[in-house]
Parts: sequence; structure tokens; C-alpha cells
Amino acid sequence: MMPSKKGSLKEMYLSWPDQCRWGLANWGFGFKEEPVSPRCIVFTGMGGSGVVGDYIASIAARRLKMPIIVVKDYKLPAWVSKEDLVIAVSYSGNTLETLLCFKEAIARGCRVAAISSGGKLKELAEKHRVPWAGVQAGYVPRAALPSMLYAALSTLEALGVPVVRKEEAEEAVDVVEEALKRCSEKDLDLEIAWKLRNKVPVIVTTSSYAALAIRAKNEFNENSKLPCKVEVLPEWGHNDVVGWEKHLGEWTALIIDPREEGESELLGAAERVYSSAGIPMVKLELFGENMLAKLLYGSLVIGLASICLGVKRSVDPMETKYIAEFKKTVEEILGKKSA
Ligand code: PA5
Repeated sequence: MMPSKKGSLKEMYLSWPDQCRWGLANWGFGFKEEPVSPRCIVFTGMGGSGVVGDYIASIAARRLKMPIIVVKDYKLPAWVSKEDLVIAVSYSGNTLETLLCFKEAIARGCRVAAISSGGKLKELAEKHRVPWAGVQAGYVPRAALPSMLYAALSTLEALGVPVVRKEEAEEAVDVVEEALKRCSEKDLDLEIAWKLRNKVPVIVTTSSYAALAIRAKNEFNENSKLPCKVEVLPEWGHNDVVGWEKHLGEWTALIIDPREEGESELLGAAERVYSSAGIPMVKLELFGENMLAKLLYGSLVIGLASICLGVKRSVDPMETKYIAEFKKTVEEILGKKSA
């Protein structure tokens, strides 16, 4: 793999406070759009870019009187129409599934915006004269999460549908700094990596933070080259719980505790089951005053832990050759649609 101008993968994660500050300095990207009042906001994006929609939908679920859905596919649901706002996110700007959804949204007359570091998505956004938020190039997609997230949040505000105020996004920067401090001074990331060595991780949290558990799974997949499973309470207690009665394999549970009323107690139920099934556990308590801060805090600690684990497992955390191969396969299968 070509060396990146942003350094090693670890250096890219260490740049998160700078990425947030860049997002704040470019807040709104100077867009001067007519405000929208959509029926629904649809985010479309895959992998590291798809997480942006997941996080914003999680935050919005607590405060917006409008649904946000996330499409990780090459087609939009049939009901998406000109009443909806579609935001396409692709760090490279070249992911076919996202490009196909973008084109479909344009064809259906939706309000559309796009976020990328360049690529075909930028060209398409310019061609169709829709707002395009350009993020800094040179990262790998998953390591550019703060840049993409702040770009998406500020685009939403510029379009008249704010989900997170700029002040909250400013406060979150201190929490991102705090995550780095706790990793370097208290080895939070090393502790998680150490507990997960030679095990299959099962990431467990509550439904409000399911998006963070999915991000964590993706990080262990891509940076540590490990399969991983996600379980979310309370649903966990209606199916997965039974599987631990006679489980197979070498698991370790990573419990993500958002430290919110009722949620830690719910997680306690899972901890008791894992303990009696002999499953080792490691807990990550989320830090921060608001959900954006907690999501970024958890993402950064887990990102660094997944890199440590990759290094312990003697794999290259940055390269993702299977993803590159799959992208070629998708081009062969769906490429004709994008012509
Ligand atoms: O983090 C990664 O490298 C991947 O999960 C990518 O985000 C995914 O393959 C989609 O690519 P892009 O983010 O460029 O649209």
C-alpha cells in the first residue's frame, strides 16, 4: 500500500482533535441554500462513510421531529421522493453503491447534498449543482470520521435542519482530546486490546448507542482483521441471551456503557450472564456531556484499541485488500447501472 500523506493509521487517529477544529473552521462550507423542510432525511454511504449517517440518526432520534434513515445499499427505498433530503457520504467519492443512490435521488427530484474528499461524487455534485462539502484528502475513510461527521452536521445546519449546534460540536473537541490523554496516560486502548487478544470480540451496548457498537465491529474487522459480533440491549435479552447457555468459541465481551440513567443497569443484566457463562469482559465507559461527544470519545478509544490489536496480531491495520477486491466485484456486477 502507498504511504499516505497523513502518516500511519495511528497518526490519522491522533489527528482527530485537528480534524474537529478543521470541521469547525469550515462549518457550513459557505453554503447559501434555501432552507429545506423535508419529510425525511436519508443518509447514504458505506463502511466508514456510512457511520456518519448512523451517528447523526442516533443523535437526531432524541431531538428531531423528523425521521433520519441510513441507506447502506445501491438503491433507495421506493418511498424516497422529492419531499426528502438525501445526503450522500463517500470519503473517496468513488464508492459505487453511494454513487448509484446519489443518481437515483437526483432522478427522483429529491433535495440532495454530498460529502467527499473528491472523486466522482464531487463531479456529480458539481454537474447537478447541489451542495458539496469537500473534506481533506489523504486519510483512509474510517480515520476521517470527525471531518466527515462535522461536515455533515454543518451541512444539515446550513440547509436549515440542525441536529447538533456548533457550540456542542466545539465542546466535543475537549472530549476527543480527553480520549487521547486517557489512552496515552492510562493505556485505555492497550487494556482493551490486551483483553481481546486471541478472542472473538462481542460488542455489547444499549440501543441508543448501537451505532457505536457497529462502528466498533467495523474497526475490529478492518484494523485488527478479526470477525466480530454486536449485541444490543434490550433486544439481546430476547434471543442472544439464550445462546450463552451452551456457547462455542473463545469470546470476550466489550461492554460499552454510556453511563446514562437506566442504561448501565440494563447492561448489568448482560454482565451477569457473561460472568456465569465464563466469558471474560472489558468495559468502556463513555465520557462527555452530550451524545456527539460520547460517540467520538468511544470511537477514538476503540479505533486506537483496534490498531493496537492489529499490531499485536502482526497484521497491517491500514490495508484493506479484501474491501478493494469487493469494490471491483461490485463494479463488475453493478457497473452497468452507473454508466
Ligand atoms: O473505512 C474504510 O476504508 C471503508 O469502510 C470505506 O469507508 C468503504 O469501503 C466505503 O468507501 P468510501 O468511504 O470511500 O465511500
